[in-house]
Amino acid sequence: MDFTGKKVIVTGATRGIGYATAEAFLRAGARVAVNGRSQASVDAAMATLGSNTVSAPGDISKADVCQAMVTDAVEALGGLNVLVTNAGVFFRGSIEETDEAAWDYVLDANLKGLFFCSRAALPALKASKGNIVHVASESGLNGYAETTAYCASKGAVVNLTRSMAIELAPDVRVNCVCPGAVETDMARAGFAIDGDEEAGLDRQRSQYPVGRIGTPEEVAKAILYLASDDAGFINAAALPMEGGATAGG
Ligand SMILES: NC(=O)c1ccc[n+]([C@@H]2O[C@H](COP(=O)([O-])OP(=O)(O)OC[C@H]3O[C@@H](n4cnc5c(N)ncnc54)[C@H](O)[C@@H]3O)[C@@H](O)[C@H]2O)c1
Repeated sequence: MDFTGKKVIVTGATRGIGYATAEAFLRAGARVAVNGRSQASVDAAMATLGSNTVSAPGDISKADVCQAMVTDAVEALGGLNVLVTNAGVFFRGSIEETDEAAWDYVLDANLKGLFFCSRAALPALKASKGNIVHVASESGLNGYAETTAYCASKGAVVNLTRSMAIELAPDVRVNCVCPGAVETDMARAGFAIDGDEEAGLDRQRSQYPVGRIGTPEEVAKAILYLASDDAGFINAAALPMEGGATAGG
């Protein structure tokens, strides 16, 4: 896929799926604004991502930070073709353990931040006839115990994708990816069994029809496809990429 000269913002690009996505866009010729919570984490990622990047630090769980971060990034890039709203957090706990702080922690990053980054990017995306790819989750398609706030946030992203796509057509396409477990820091910590991260990942691997979990690079490739002109007729899609886990069985 060719993104030569295209301008892209990736939120949460300092590690995991976001980092792999930034890397893939750069390899395809794009210029990428790298968002992460802190300047230090953004600087560290940019040191290995290379020179075709611009710095876009900011905690996207706050609406005013989303607005400022996106406005500055669009100015630094000189426009915008693609917004990837990838930044997100995970919380595992029973419903009783999900207090207001945990709820706000998850929903503010995974849903509110995603919405307000999108909203801030609209003038530039409408001007370029660009598109948005949200990173939802398999947890937005299925319900799972002990991750109620996370599942609620990702389910909301799936339907927000449809709603935004209808409102913004034909100017701006909006799609989302719904990955199953992907080998990143989030999955290692989030699925650990009594602190044993490898045991947690093994249990995840055994639960997927394909006998493994995903890689950040696989998710990045799907994001690039949805963002590309090749996917010009794809709008409002929620792409499951979970080895068939949500298909039934
Ligand atoms: N790893 C999985 O199994 C998996 C599966 C499905 C969906 N996802 C989703 O993929 C996305 C990326 O997850 P990952 O596994 O790479 O996680 P990760 O924890 O490895 O990386 C998350 C990135 O988002 C950033 N981030 C988090 N909150 C932020 C905030 N408030 N402001 C700015 N940056 C913030 C982090 O700094 C980091 O760069 C998330 O939305 C996650 O929910 C992950």
